[in-house]
Amino acid sequence: MSIESLKSSHPEPEKINGNFAGKDILSMDQFDTKSIEILFEHADRMKPIADNAESSEILKGKQAVMIYYEASTRTRVSFQVAMNQLGGDPIIIENPQQFSSAVKGESLRHTIKTHDAYVDLIVLRHPVTGSLQEAADAAKKVPVINAGDGGQGEHPTQGLLDLYTISRLSGRLENLTGVIAGDLLMGRTVKSLIRGLALYPGNTLYLLSPDEIRLPRKDFDDFSSRGIKLIEINKTEDIPPDTDFWYWTRVQEERYPTEEYKAIKNKFIVDINLLDKYAGPNTKLLHPMPINGEILEEVDDDPRAEYLEAQVRSGVYVRMALLGLVLDKI
Ligand code: NCD
Repeated sequence: MSIESLKSSHPEPEKINGNFAGKDILSMDQFDTKSIEILFEHADRMKPIADNAESSEILKGKQAVMIYYEASTRTRVSFQVAMNQLGGDPIIIENPQQFSSAVKGESLRHTIKTHDAYVDLIVLRHPVTGSLQEAADAAKKVPVINAGDGGQGEHPTQGLLDLYTISRLSGRLENLTGVIAGDLLMGRTVKSLIRGLALYPGNTLYLLSPDEIRLPRKDFDDFSSRGIKLIEINKTEDIPPDTDFWYWTRVQEERYPTEEYKAIKNKFIVDINLLDKYAGPNTKLLHPMPINGEILEEVDDDPRAEYLEAQVRSGVYVRMALLGLVLDKI
């Protein structure tokens, strides 16, 4: 079955319902717990391939274009590595504003339609929230994967790899208590992670941010209505002791005027002292990266710090599984 015959047009991102083939991956709202479990089982199976103990050619002959209208390190490289490890062919377009026909005024719609005619899959990151749906609507033949949709949209593959990391480190995704800190207004990874954690029962999240950059009210109300317990706090003294994880994030400097950024940046910095005071011996410290001063380097080697360890590796496993499933090869 070719991907062309699988993709159909939908006003909203289509639910996965255990079947990923040919579907756009735009939002965590497409997922249920069963679909996440399927993805994670495949991600576990991708490990030996990613770690080069086994090899695979399941995506041989498949081409994926990966277009980054915004800077990226981990998402870009892990998608590329994931495609390569499965024998596929990634085509990376960085700085399209500089090096593609966007420079000549081409619309996103036309750029996407062109790639739709060339490749098997499109991975896209864009600074304007809503661009991913626009791209998915424009791509009539091939699936589009959201690699970051502005500040107020989502970053579902990051959310999935964060869930995978937590599940494999803590052994479960329900009855967890965690702290999510930093830029909850313009950070997109937290929007996907909270949606994901809301799928499981008994989860409580302490949302730590300066008042100016707390979660948008519509998101707070929407997520709370799903049954997840969200508790907003604005000082580190209110962090409950010994939670299952801390998920720290960067204040999105590029999405604020300079003066506003200066007033809100790095209000909550993780150092060994803060960890020792409020985290427990088993609290996992996560961060989607990049870190811009909100976690001190002295913390990197602490055994609780997973952002350069399990979390960053998970990105490859989960993206390999996702590519294989969406391209209908596993
Ligand atoms: C994040 C992003 O781009 O949203 N990075 C990532 O993909 N892991 C976080 C950030 O830029 O702060």
